Amino acid sequence: MAYETLIVETTDHIGLIRLNRPDALNALNSQLLGELGKALAAMDADDDVRCIVLTGSEKAFAAGADIKEMSEKTFAEVFKDDMFGPAGQSVIRTRKPIIAAVSGYALGGGCELAMMCDFILCSDTAKFGQPEINLGVMPGLGGSQRLTRFVGKSKSMEMNLTGRFMDAEEAERSGLVSRVIPAKDLVDEAIKTAKKISEKSMIAVMATKEAVNRSYEMTLSEGLLYERRVFHSLFATDDQSEGMAAFIEKRSPQFRDT
Ligand code: HXC
Repeated sequence: MAYETLIVETTDHIGLIRLNRPDALNALNSQLLGELGKALAAMDADDDVRCIVLTGSEKAFAAGADIKEMSEKTFAEVFKDDMFGPAGQSVIRTRKPIIAAVSGYALGGGCELAMMCDFILCSDTAKFGQPEINLGVMPGLGGSQRLTRFVGKSKSMEMNLTGRFMDAEEAERSGLVSRVIPAKDLVDEAIKTAKKISEKSMIAVMATKEAVNRSYEMTLSEGLLYERRVFHSLFATDDQSEGMAAFIEKRSPQFRDT
């Protein structure tokens, strides 16, 4: 499939998607969001892909939703189109893990897109922010909700109300990103991390992703019960027998996703 706003490749079971609108700092317009949805769906359905890395350029992961495309829209139009609703769904319904590799600006919808991925690795040049308030609007794809869960109310409220940016060090300290990596190594490190995940049992990986994501939706006691039941169900897989046998026999497991 040919994409105009993305560079997409699959190597060694890792699907790599690069947002590619360099003249607009990868601003998320409807074409890019449509293509991203298609690329993610295609990778989710492709047995050859076991983990996905989503990245941008060194200067920008994405500087937000495309302000030029949005500026003339009316309430009736954005409401009827449910602007950004389907785009968000296309990311969060992906069952394989998605790692966001963020360098440079991740602002507004760009920060929200990174937060919809399963975890964020960022470069030392990364800048995160929800500057929608400066445009007379507010976040529309999770900036007031996911950011609050990641970094807590005080920091989220300050960022959302002032539009200030957070650098990589602050993002790691406050739990928004899992690790900070030198910019030149970011994508390689994200691919290396994806490779590690790709060597696990896909069933265990997908079940684990679902369980961690459920922790945001459920009470602790419901979440713990859900986790335990899914854990029990993995004893129905060949990969459980293989993984445990391999440990006891002091060899590497050969998972078959069955
Ligand atoms: C459209 C954008 C853009 C955006 C940058 N560009 N961000 N175009 N939408 N969000 C374009 C600029 O217009 C310019 O094109 C080119 O990219 C380079 O940008 P500059 O501003 O010249 O670069 P620089 O001086 O380095 O400043 C970088 C920046 C700034 C700090 C990131 O571009 C900026 O503040 N961008 C907007 C950030 C923002 O407000 N994001 C939130 C958007 S609202 P031209 O052709 O003019 O030279 C949002 C709502 C989310 O995301 C709702 C749910 C998705």
